[in-house]
Amino acid sequence: MRTEEIKQTLVLIKPDALKNSLTGYVLSQLSEFHTGLRFAGAKIVHVSRMLAEEHYAEHRGKVFYPSLIEYIMGLLHYPDEPNRRRVISLVYQGPDAVKKMREICGPTNPHVARETKPGCIRALGTVVPLKDAAGNEIGERMDNLIHASATDNEAEREIKLWFRPGDFPPFMRSYPTEINAEDHYYFKNGNLYITHEPGSVCLIAPGDVVWKSDFDALRLLSKGLPAASSLEAVAAKYLMNYTVES
Ligand code: GTP
Ligand code: MG
Repeated sequence: MRTEEIKQTLVLIKPDALKNSLTGYVLSQLSEFHTGLRFAGAKIVHVSRMLAEEHYAEHRGKVFYPSLIEYIMGLLHYPDEPNRRRVISLVYQGPDAVKKMREICGPTNPHVARETKPGCIRALGTVVPLKDAAGNEIGERMDNLIHASATDNEAEREIKLWFRPGDFPPFMRSYPTEINAEDHYYFKNGNLYITHEPGSVCLIAPGDVVWKSDFDALRLLSKGLPAASSLEAVAAKYLMNYTVES
């Protein structure tokens, strides 16, 4: 019963949904009344390149990857208004959370969504042609309004990428946590430090509640050893909304 109850999934309401003023509609579609799922976490995020690249790491190298990063960062929908570049990041919880959210979102491609699943959220999206410098069409971009984790494993990776344990009420933390007793971890220019470096950001200080997997990764990375998560995957959430990125 408990393991069923605490299944969680990450949802991102993407910049095109904000631009088209569809947030109210989307949230209402995702409500407990429609999905049987409850809010566990919520935040408004100015997406950094580091966070975007970690979130979509599986697509690195693909032809649509650069535009996908620009899309989730809000650069495409708000080219001249950095202050409006945001996504709404949500964690929902309940039985079959991943499957239910994917169903209500619908197929990745909005054209396919309209044909095969009218009424799903992504049926309201658009497909935009991608052109090279010479104006030749080299592919397309799918502005599909919403992201939802694809599997339970992906949900865990994504939730830990976008949220700290302290972003959740204590009973809604689905993954193991640890209270940091005495370590300090600082980040600067892609490097990790265990003592303060001028200009660095303190990622974790004594007393902080952290994901155990992040802590394990930092311990290894600080010794120069390979770890299950990259430094960027750990650091991105601590640098979230830290400074304006244009
Ligand atoms: P997300 O919820 O955004 O992760 O979508 P998804 O899980 O339905 O699809 P996937 O994770 O495979 O792709 C992530 C995003 O990359 C999609 O939302 C699309 O915007 C884009 N994308 C994925 N596959 C393709 C593709 O074959 N062509 C193009 N142009 N874009 C793609
Ligand atoms: Mg996906």
